[in-house]
Amino acid sequence: MFLLKILKKLNFIRNILFFYFNIFQFWINHIKIIMNKNNYYYNIFIYKISFKKMSLSLIFLSILILIICLICLRQYLKGGVCKNKHDMTNKIIIITGPSNGLGKESAFDLLNHNAKVIFACRAEERTMKVINTLPENLRKNATFMKLDVSSFKSIINFVNEVKQKYDKIDILMNNAGAMPIKFDWTEDDYDSYFISLYLGPFLLSALLMNHMNKDGDAKIINLSSAMHLWPMIEKGDIQKYKNKDYMKAFYQNSAGSKLYNNTKLFIIYMTQYFAKFCEKNKLQIKNVCLHPGLVQSDFFAKINRSNILQSITRYILNFVLNLVSKNPV
Ligand SMILES: NC(=O)c1ccc[n+]([C@@H]2O[C@H](COP(=O)([O-])OP(=O)(O)OC[C@H]3O[C@@H](n4cnc5c(N)ncnc54)[C@H](OP(=O)(O)O)[C@@H]3O)[C@@H](O)[C@H]2O)c1
Repeated sequence: MFLLKILKKLNFIRNILFFYFNIFQFWINHIKIIMNKNNYYYNIFIYKISFKKMSLSLIFLSILILIICLICLRQYLKGGVCKNKHDMTNKIIIITGPSNGLGKESAFDLLNHNAKVIFACRAEERTMKVINTLPENLRKNATFMKLDVSSFKSIINFVNEVKQKYDKIDILMNNAGAMPIKFDWTEDDYDSYFISLYLGPFLLSALLMNHMNKDGDAKIINLSSAMHLWPMIEKGDIQKYKNKDYMKAFYQNSAGSKLYNNTKLFIIYMTQYFAKFCEKNKLQIKNVCLHPGLVQSDFFAKINRSNILQSITRYILNFVLNLVSKNPV
């Protein structure tokens, strides 16, 4: 059966190749005839009647090139896929923001590996709806705990609750994140996006570190992004993030993506810092960060569209993204 499928696929590819080979031959023959000076009038005649065919083949060729480019771009942007079937019974895993997108699919996958997953989310109702979609055997290992990563108070309360309920944590996955879209100064005297994308994961990791599994298997996984390659950091930026007026102006200049790129770079620095810290203090915790590839999620749907230009940009962006990005499942 499997062999038959492969043969069918090969046949299909062969037919396509033949089709394009014929077009290629057709072109070469006509170029040869046209170049032949002895047959000039005849060639002009042939050229005219086959002009339609030539333009058709040109269109086909362009479509083929476009499809190949899109497939290559998709392959490049989608990154790797984990095919690990490791049994994770008794592992306790915290995922921040698994009510949607990557966090949700990671949580479902880990539950399928028999791990116990703590759904650390700010919206209880939304998260419970997600948990309730799980079959009974997986649902029993899924626990909701309230956490808003854009609030220091919420993070501290969450950590205290975790320490009371669980003896140890095996994996912390700092996943929650959103594209900064509006100015939102919090009671912690920082912009809420700056906290949720950088300071929050930093505090959460630091507070949970001494409560993590000591058998050498513990991990802190941080979601960064390839966008860290385009940071726009000015000297002393990190100090300016404490300045309310500076941050307000920042959003007025629609610099949300600038803040996002910068925080994703800070997350990499944070991972390196904690890796060194753990090594120095003999804490057996692996600190890793990753770019998940380009994934279809709610992430881009939340991008601002307060004016027509932004709406059009968003639709074009979504269209292109749907063509080249992978499904979180
Ligand atoms: N999608 C991509 O192509 C892509 C590429 C590179 C990196 N990433 C990174 O991957 C991570 C997940 O992205 P995604 O695409 O899965 O996005 P998503 O579908 O928008 O999901 C983000 C999740 O984070 C939660 N969240 C946001 N702010 C929070 C807060 N203050 N407290 C608690 N939870 C909060 C959201 O919960 P609510 O429902 O409560 O808002 C949601 O469940 C992000 O860190 C993102 O930067 C994504």
